[in-house]
Amino acid sequence: MVASPVLCPSLALKMALSRVCWARAALWGSAVTHGPYVTRRLQLIRCGLTWGTPGSSKIHLSSKADVKNLVSYVVTKTKMINGKYHQFLSRHFPRFYVLYTVFMKGLQMLWADAKKARRIKSNMWKHNVKFHQLSYREMEHLRQFRRDISKCFFLGIISIPPFANYLVFLLMYLFPRQLLVQHFWTPKQQMEFLDIYHGLRKQSHPEILRCLERVTPLIFDKQLRWNMTDLCTKIRRGTHPATHDILALRECFSHHPLGLNQLHTLQMKAFSRALLLTPYLPPFLLRRRLKTHTTVIHQLDLALAKLGINHLTAQEVKSACYLRGLNSTHLAEERCRTWLGEWLQISCSLKEAELSLLLHNVVLLSTNYTGTRR
Ligand SMILES: *[C@@H]1O[C@H](CO)[C@@H](O)[C@H](O)[C@H]1NC(C)=O
Ligand SMILES: *[C@@H]1O[C@H](CO)[C@@H](O)[C@H](O)[C@H]1NC(C)=O
Ligand SMILES: *[C@@H]1O[C@H](CO)[C@@H](O)[C@H](O)[C@H]1NC(C)=O
Repeated sequence: MVASPVLCPSLALKMALSRVCWARAALWGSAVTHGPYVTRRLQLIRCGLTWGTPGSSKIHLSSKADVKNLVSYVVTKTKMINGKYHQFLSRHFPRFYVLYTVFMKGLQMLWADAKKARRIKSNMWKHNVKFHQLSYREMEHLRQFRRDISKCFFLGIISIPPFANYLVFLLMYLFPRQLLVQHFWTPKQQMEFLDIYHGLRKQSHPEILRCLERVTPLIFDKQLRWNMTDLCTKIRRGTHPATHDILALRECFSHHPLGLNQLHTLQMKAFSRALLLTPYLPPFLLRRRLKTHTTVIHQLDLALAKLGINHLTAQEVKSACYLRGLNSTHLAEERCRTWLGEWLQISCSLKEAELSLLLHNVVLLSTNYTGTRR
C-alpha cells in the first residue's frame, strides 16, 4: 500500500526520462514550421545534399520533399506516442499522472518567470534603473523570483550527477513543501502549505510581544512608555490596534532600545522566524538580512502606494498581505484590502531610520486581525 505509489512512479519515471529523449527528437520536428534554428539546420542538410550531387536540381527537390515527409512523419509519430504515453500514465498511475502534469506545468511557469526576470533585469541595465525605481509588479516579481531561486538552489545541487535524477524525484515527492517552490504545488497543497508556514510564523509572535514588553521600561519618554505599555496590553487582550496608535509610537523605533541597530539577538531570531528567514546565522548576518528584507518591503510599499491597492487583483492582494505577515489565505478579499490599506498608511509615513517599526508591524498589525472584528 505504501510502497506502490513510490514504486510505480519509479517505473513511470523511467518512461518519463525516455520520453525526454523523444521530446528532444520531437523538438526538432515540431519546431520546423517556425523555428529559425531548425530551418537553418534543414538548409544545411539541403546544402549538404546539393553539394553531394552537383548540378542535379531534381534530386535537390526530391530530397527537400523527403526531408519534409520525414519531419512530418516524426511529428505525427511523436504526437501519437506522446498521447499514448499520457493515456497510459493517467490510466495506470493516476496519482503519479497528477504529480507529473503539475510538475511539467510548474517547470513551464518557472521558466516563464525566469524569462520575465531577465527581461526586467536587462531593462534595468539598459535604462540605468535601480530596484527601488521599478514599478510595483516588476519589483515584486524580482523579489519573489530571487526567493524561489535560492530555494531551488539545494535541489539544483543534488540533481547534478552522480546523485542522479531518481533520488531528486523521490525527494521532491516526499518533501514537496521543503524542496519545491509554489509553482510545483497543487492548489490544495498551496493552501495547506501556506497554512503550515503561517503556523510557523505565528509561533514567534508571543515572543516578539514579550521582548517588546521587556524593553518598554527602557523607553526614555514617559508618555511614549505609557502608550507602548497600553498598546501591548491591548494586543494581549485581542484588540486589533488602530494605525494612529502605532504611528504615535514611531519615535521609539529609531534608537535604543528598539532601533534596528539595537535589537537584541533573541529579538532578531524571533523576527527571522516571523518572516520565514532562517534564524541560524550569526547576529551580524541576521541583522543585515532583516534590514534588507525590511527595506525591500518598504520599497515595495512605496511602489504599491503609487500604483494604488485598487489596481491589484484578488490574488495579488492576498499574497501581498501574506508577505507582510497576515494569515490571508482564508480571509475575505475586502478584509485583506482594508488591512493592506492600514499597512500602507503606516509604512509610507515611516522614515528609513524608523524601519524597525515596520518589522514590529509584521506582528502588531497582523496577530489579532480576523475575518469579523471591526
Ligand atoms: C488562518 O486563518 C484561518 C481562518 O481564519 C484559520 O482557520 C487558521 O487556523 C489560521 N491559520 C493559522 C496558522 O493560524
Ligand atoms: C492576540 O495576539 C496575542 C499575541 O500574539 C495573543 O497572545 C492573543 O491570544 C491574541 N488574542 C486573540 C483574541 O486572538
Ligand atoms: C498616549 O496616550 C494618552 C492617554 O490615552 C493619549 O492622551 C495620548 O494622545 C497618547 N499619545 C500619543 C502620542 O498618541
